[in-house]
Amino acid sequence: MHTRFSKHFGLNTPIALAPMALASGGALAAACARAGALGLLGGGYGELSWLQTQHALAMSLLHGDSSALQRLGCGFITWKLDEDASALDWLLDQPHTPAALMLSFGDPRPYAARIAKRGVPLICQIQRLEQLPVCREAGASVIVAQGAEAGGHGMHSLQARATFSLVPELADALAQHSPSAMLLAAGGIADGRGLAAARVLGADGVVMGTRLWASAESLASAGAVAAALKANGDETARSAVFDVLRRKAWPAEFDFRALRNRLHRQWELRMDALRASPEAARAEYDAGVAAQDFDRAHVTVGEAVGLMHDAPSAAVLMERITRQAEALLR
Ligand SMILES: Cc1cc2nc3c(=O)[nH]c(=O)nc-3n(C[C@H](O)[C@H](O)[C@H](O)COP(=O)(O)O)c2cc1C
Repeated sequence: MHTRFSKHFGLNTPIALAPMALASGGALAAACARAGALGLLGGGYGELSWLQTQHALAMSLLHGDSSALQRLGCGFITWKLDEDASALDWLLDQPHTPAALMLSFGDPRPYAARIAKRGVPLICQIQRLEQLPVCREAGASVIVAQGAEAGGHGMHSLQARATFSLVPELADALAQHSPSAMLLAAGGIADGRGLAAARVLGADGVVMGTRLWASAESLASAGAVAAALKANGDETARSAVFDVLRRKAWPAEFDFRALRNRLHRQWELRMDALRASPEAARAEYDAGVAAQDFDRAHVTVGEAVGLMHDAPSAAVLMERITRQAEALLR
């Protein structure tokens, strides 16, 4: 299946691995790149030593496979770079030129010149139409339209858009104002039906998080994956509960989709109380993480969790999803 996106990045399938913090490590990014997708390391909160380790792992796994190496890139959480961009700077100083850099959740413009100077394509993930002009100013080659179905962070519910209408609306806007910019759909895509639908809606490809989070090469813990595979798509929710519990100072416009577990339910309607006095809830959360008890610890997945019933290798997933989409589109 070829599109402008797959041709531009030398891919065999128009799929990008979402740069999932603490899940898209070197093994998963390398497996996706080797399988012909865009393998984006989860640079996440920009922790330099984590990135150095995972980047080295990906480089060693792809050693000698020059075409797969050209499909290895990275993503960062933009507002966190505003505090410390040393991981981005380190990556841009490496001999290997990243295939792409994806920036999400913040203003990409302060980083655009550095990325462009190195000749690296910029991918900007957005959740609303009104965020597009800033990405165009930053010179983004690729826009990711992230719908509220997505796992992990996204726009909070007062502002969030669903993938199904956001993608074609952004496709129209890009066709009018930036026809050379490519568009990827993200949020709720976990099988060939989602990939085919994204193409029909006007996307050049997709970004997949949740589906690849549950794969053999993911850094997600086996217990979290087992909990996710038991859940259906009704069992996730967006809120700031786990950000407060994890002591993450996310900007107010974003919140976080994960399994709506017992600890989440306990606090989801009492956010003011949780924020005012988080100590006891944090202690319970920390104990849950230590015990790998997913009634208390978070499991970061989106609504697509209901479409997943196994955790095979990334290569098997790419093949399965691509073939199913091709058959549907035929
Ligand atoms: C476990 C997990 C961690 C994520 N971490 C990040 C991140 O660090 N940076 C980012 O830009 N997006 C992150 N995302 C969101 C993805 O970029 C993407 O928008 C989302 O996974 C797409 O929806 P899906 O989960 O339904 O495939 C994460 C998603 C998941 C599931």
